[in-house]
Amino acid sequence: MKIIKSTILLLSLTVLNCKSPGTTEARLEKSEQQLTALRTLSIQEKKIPRSIDKNGKNIWTRQPYDWTEGFWPGTCWMQYERTQDEKWKEAAIAAQNLFIHHKDLTNDHDLGFIFNNSFGKAYRITGEEKYKQVLIDAANALITRFNKNVGCVQSWDVVDNWQSKRGWKFPVIVDNLMNLEMLFEASEITGNNRYREIAITHANTTMQNHFRPDGSSYHVLDYNPETGAISAKVTAQGYSDESAWSRGQAWGLYAYIMCYRYTKDKKYLDFAEKIATFILNHPNYPEDGVPYWDFNAPNIPDEPRDASSGAIIASALIELSDYTGDRYMQQALHILDSLAGSAYTAKEGENGHFVLMHSVGSIPHGNEIDVPINYADYYYIEALSRLREKGL
Ligand code: GLY
Repeated sequence: MKIIKSTILLLSLTVLNCKSPGTTEARLEKSEQQLTALRTLSIQEKKIPRSIDKNGKNIWTRQPYDWTEGFWPGTCWMQYERTQDEKWKEAAIAAQNLFIHHKDLTNDHDLGFIFNNSFGKAYRITGEEKYKQVLIDAANALITRFNKNVGCVQSWDVVDNWQSKRGWKFPVIVDNLMNLEMLFEASEITGNNRYREIAITHANTTMQNHFRPDGSSYHVLDYNPETGAISAKVTAQGYSDESAWSRGQAWGLYAYIMCYRYTKDKKYLDFAEKIATFILNHPNYPEDGVPYWDFNAPNIPDEPRDASSGAIIASALIELSDYTGDRYMQQALHILDSLAGSAYTAKEGENGHFVLMHSVGSIPHGNEIDVPINYADYYYIEALSRLREKGL
C-alpha cells in the first residue's frame, strides 16, 4: 500500500513538474550556462562572485573575509557532482583556496556557512582526506564562541562597532543556526561529541528564546554573557523588531530540519513544521511562493521580493518532505516553478551571470536591494539537485 501511494505521488509530482517552465534537468542545464560564464570571470579575476552593483558590474566577496565566500565554491562542487566535469572541481578548489586561511578565525560565527558549504562539500563529494582537517579546524574555531552561561555560540563580536553602539554584549542571530551543520558534521567525522553537544545546546536555546508563539522568529537576541539573561529582542536586517524578516524565517526552517537530520529528535521536526506553517499560511506569503523581504514590510505588495528566501525555503521543504511523507513537496515545486520562470531567472548573459534575480541583502543597511546574490543561486541549485537525486 505504501509503495502504491508513493508511486502515485511520484507520478503526480512528475506530471506537475512537467507542466512547469522546464524539467529539473533543463533548469540545471540553463543555470549551468550562466554559471559557466561566471566561472570564467571568477578564474580570470581570482575572486569569488557575490553580487552586482548598480551598473550591473560584478561585485566580489569582501575583504578581509565575507560570510558568503563559501557559496560560490559550493555551487561549483554541486556542478561537479552533477556533471563530473573536472572544470567545476578546479573552479571550486581555486575559489576555496582563496579563503582557506580563514578557517582559524575566532571572531566570526559564519565559519559554518563558509567552510561546510565549500570544504565540507568537497570532502563529502570526493572523500579526499585533505578537506576533512580544514572542516575540523573551522569547527574548532567556531566552538571558541560558545558560552555555556548563554547556551549559544556568539554571532557578532561587540567591539567598537554598530553593535556596541546598540549596547549589545552577546548578540545571537537566528541565521547562526545554519552554522550548526558544520558542528554536527565535525562530530560525525571525528567521533568527538563535543561539537554536536554545542550544536544541540545552541539549537535548544534558540528554539526556546528566539521564536514567538506563532512560529516566527526574532532576528537578534542579545544576552548577558555572565547570566544568560536576555537583554534585547530586536532586528538588524528586518523591517522592525517585531516583524518576521523573511530570510530569518527561511534559515530557521532549514536549520531545524537539518537538526532533525542529525539527531532524529522529533521536537526539531515538529518545530520545523511549525515554522513551515507560519511561512506557508501567512497572509502576506505571495501566490508565487517567493517571499517579500519581510513578511511585515509596510507596503506589500509594493515591496522587494527576496529570491534567496524562496530558494532556501524550497530546498528546506524538499528535505522536510522526506521526513513527513511528501506533503511539503508540492509547495517546494511551486516555489521552484516560480524561480525557474522569467520573473526570477535571468536571461543568458545578463544579471552578472548569476542565475536568479531579485534578492535582498539588507534593506535597513541599504545594502544589496533587488539584486542577484551568490547564496540565492547556491540554494536554488541545491534544491534542484535534491530533486534530481529523487528522480524528479
Ligand atoms: N547573515 C546572513 C543573511 O544575511 O542572511
